[in-house]
Amino acid sequence: MPLVRFSVSIDQELVEAFDSLVEAQGYANRSEAIRDAMRSRLVRQEWEKGDEVAGVITLLYDHHRHGVSEALTEIQHHALAEVISATHVHVDEDNCLEFVAVRGEARAIEKLADRMISLKGVKHGALTATSTGKKLR
Ligand code: NI
Repeated sequence: MPLVRFSVSIDQELVEAFDSLVEAQGYANRSEAIRDAMRSRLVRQEWEKGDEVAGVITLLYDHHRHGVSEALTEIQHHALAEVISATHVHVDEDNCLEFVAVRGEARAIEKLADRMISLKGVKHGALTATSTGKKLR
């Protein structure tokens, strides 16, 4: 891919705010931070358009709560098209952390995540929305 240089007019205050973010995050330079910001917006668009996407669903739950782990397993067994893999970590005597890697249509992934996160007994759940990477460079 050839590199393209382009100039953009931006308010000084916005550039300064962005540059302090660039420094705080440890970016090598402003260009890489801008590339990341662009990719991040493109990934969001993939989700908005309902494209094929990828993500990770994280679930923290108390395994003593009756039926939670069974319900989570049941849901995943009925979503084989989306679920790529699942890892279960025993955080302590009570808490389990599960991360489920998923890939598929954005709407289906969101529905799957919502179903698992909203289960009674799940203390905290989140969907990390990312991309299959096919349209990103
Ligand atoms: Ni566990």
